[in-house]
Amino acid sequence: MPASPAFYYRCARCGRTYPGDGLRYTCPHDGGNLDILFDYDALRRRLTRATFPPAPELSQWRYLPLLPVADPGGHGTPLRRVGWTPIYTAPRLRRHLGLPHLFLKDESPNPTASFKDRASALVVAHAQQQGARVIITASTGNAGAALAGMAAAVGAQAVILAPRRAPQAKIAQLLIYAARVVLVDGTYDDAFDLSVQAAQALGWYCRNTGYNPFTVEGKKTAAFEIWEQLLRDDPAPERWHIFVPVGDGNIISGLYKGLWDLQQLGWLPRLPRLHGVQAEGSAAIARAWEANADAITPVQAHTLADSIAVDLPRDGYRALRAVRATGGRYWTVSDQAILEAMALLGQVGVFVEPAAAAALAGLLQAREHGALVPEEPALVLLTGSGLKDVAAARQAVGAPPIVAPGDLNGLKALLTSP
Ligand SMILES: Cc1ncc(COP(=O)(O)O)c(C=O)c1O
Ligand SMILES: [Zn+2]
Repeated sequence: MPASPAFYYRCARCGRTYPGDGLRYTCPHDGGNLDILFDYDALRRRLTRATFPPAPELSQWRYLPLLPVADPGGHGTPLRRVGWTPIYTAPRLRRHLGLPHLFLKDESPNPTASFKDRASALVVAHAQQQGARVIITASTGNAGAALAGMAAAVGAQAVILAPRRAPQAKIAQLLIYAARVVLVDGTYDDAFDLSVQAAQALGWYCRNTGYNPFTVEGKKTAAFEIWEQLLRDDPAPERWHIFVPVGDGNIISGLYKGLWDLQQLGWLPRLPRLHGVQAEGSAAIARAWEANADAITPVQAHTLADSIAVDLPRDGYRALRAVRATGGRYWTVSDQAILEAMALLGQVGVFVEPAAAAALAGLLQAREHGALVPEEPALVLLTGSGLKDVAAARQAVGAPPIVAPGDLNGLKALLTSP
């Protein structure tokens, strides 16, 4: 397998570049998010589209030649099992919605049951290669669970700051993976600021979303998979629509980075349209998109989709760039529409958490607005398992289950009544 490529950092905002000698967080000049870039001419000489990936391991590590870390090892552990998630054609959903070219990419088979494993696995690999002792992160739940799980898999130490009101299942995950867990009496944004201060004060490695440039490099592997699984042989990739739930904006920035890498390599002539979907009550990026602004005004986030409840998105600038550069758009969806999308997916055997269902709700809105027509192919990125938030699932189905008496006659009467 070829060695991992050398890289440098470039600020997404001001374009200043910095050498790739160790970990940097944001741009010292203006606080912009840093992109990790390669020497694409050198990569083009080393890799060919026809033989990529060279080692078809069934995980995100199949893309090591395009990742800014060395091989992390970890064979025989969940770290090595991240990514290469399934794509469903969901024929019953296609028929129900009248969308014959719909695809769902289900991230719940990842080891900690969300998309965030992609970023956390890569960050743990990088932190270990940097000799970091402790990795800290703020999280609405999933990023923390993913970091805790990946750290536990390879014996690294994780410290997680999450909002006190995070769903119980996510908190249970943090604890069972034996991370040091601090529940902050405040919002995700409070936890974010506190974790950055703690990392600086204690000299710890910080994984925070929209702060550590390596998370995007893990998340971009989903774009590589979509390319391999669907776009590679399509003569018109620009006809595709990809719907992505957006909180901080790091997932959609990661997908864009993956597509952009492929374009630089000359392996993807034109980019599919990226659509960002936010909850109406947590729509700072969508509002900036509507106003055609670059600056993001924070909101007071209120939505049952806790994973995308963010006051001040930390990767908003790049999240806007991803959508503008690909000709997609932003959508905002109500909590009610999210619950309905959750129920709809459940009816075809796919159980997702509210943030993931938001992406489908966005697609349905796009179809209603005529921005998506049935002839066009569309993919919905389902970012997290429904088991993460069972209270929301119960809300999505409404009626409680029937309670049966303990005798057969009573049961028969119940089951045969209209
Ligand atoms: C399941 C799920 N979907 C979507 C998102 C949104 O990702 P981002 O905050 O990078 O926009 C998250 C983030 O926590 C998540 O956990
Ligand atoms: Zn800058």
